[in-house]
Amino acid sequence: MKIEPAVALVGHVAVPGDKSISHRAVLIGAIADGETRVRGFGRSGDTQASIDAVRALGIDVEDVADDELVVHGSVLRPGSVECANAGTLMRLLAGIVAGRQGRFELRGDESLSARPMERIAEPLRQMGAQIETMDGHAPLVIDGSKLRAIDYALPVASAQVKSAILLAGLTAKGATTVVEPAPTRDHTELMLEAAGARVRRRALSVTVEATNTLRLDEVDVPGDFSSAAPLLVAAALIPGGDLTVHAVGLNPRRARLLDVLERMGARVAIFNRRKAGGESVGDVQVQHDQLVATEISADEVPLLVDELPLIALLATQAHGETVVRGAAELRVKESDRIDAVAEGLRAVGAHLRPREDGWTITGVPTRFRGGRIDAHGDHRIAMLGAIAGLASSEGVEIEGAETVAISFPGFFDLVDSVVKR
Ligand code: S3P
Repeated sequence: MKIEPAVALVGHVAVPGDKSISHRAVLIGAIADGETRVRGFGRSGDTQASIDAVRALGIDVEDVADDELVVHGSVLRPGSVECANAGTLMRLLAGIVAGRQGRFELRGDESLSARPMERIAEPLRQMGAQIETMDGHAPLVIDGSKLRAIDYALPVASAQVKSAILLAGLTAKGATTVVEPAPTRDHTELMLEAAGARVRRRALSVTVEATNTLRLDEVDVPGDFSSAAPLLVAAALIPGGDLTVHAVGLNPRRARLLDVLERMGARVAIFNRRKAGGESVGDVQVQHDQLVATEISADEVPLLVDELPLIALLATQAHGETVVRGAAELRVKESDRIDAVAEGLRAVGAHLRPREDGWTITGVPTRFRGGRIDAHGDHRIAMLGAIAGLASSEGVEIEGAETVAISFPGFFDLVDSVVKR
């Protein structure tokens, strides 16, 4: 697919429901008592994999509308589950089934089967779980067993690992505590609290107590900040940009990109701030202005981890040298995002060098030429390619553009609706 240059991005949009929260609503709804009605569900390849997974384990999920579901919680029936491309699904579900009866097999596609799984298997084994990996990777075979609570210090800042341990903690004797090296997204804690679990939260740790009575009833999913991000970045990057994304999730552990946009010189305004089911929501307006370089450090990384490729793109047009550090986790995402971003942006004429844990980017505030970007089967790299095309002078051909459907099937149509050419 070829993305032609844009004159600017102008208008008002809304984006589909948050992927992280949608996964959790299906998975926690499956083990909660009674019905959970999920409104604003973000339907995508990844979240559909969560629906299919719990259905394979005997859970009834009613599709009320594209963005609305009813999950009928029940006892999970043992079985084999296809997690496709969804790392969140595989890691959270492993935590959920580790303390439940029966044998569960969790499989993934080629990309997911190359991602590290010992990071969840190891703490779950400390809790008493019987879990086998294939050389540290999927497929995972889990024989549900009696678990005991642990205190666990995460070696890497990962919300997926934290969530796997907390969800296993629901079935473990005692109080399970996870300590984080830096704060990561807290959607699991917020949803468990909303479901009536006893959760104690501190700045860098969280404790959950065992319970077999969770009750969600309703989940209102805010717009996905990570889906809004490519559009907001395009508005900031291209002169004349003025875009508002309505009803988007602004959880402080997700929306750090807005601070980065501001310190790089873009104009950012938030209207109509509100809460929905424990999550912060608002309308975000971003306007273009001249951009300057910035630095991203390890502490900030978990708060904008999925937006780092877009920050690299912004930096290619920002006056000065931007350095992103402490982001080695990007090497074990759906692709090696450090190399995929460096290769892709260099191929279109930008100036950056990969580091072991990020990039060094030299900003040149004129449009780069354009060319071809390989998505490497990674939805976030495909969206990066599209925004690079809009900001280029000759357009960008994206290899593997269809992979955007993993998180955001309507992405290209939504971009078209606000692009001035
Ligand atoms: C996610 C956590 C992050 C993020 C991923 C979704 C989640 O992964 O990159 O897209 O829903 O918990 P890690 O926890 O592995 O950093």
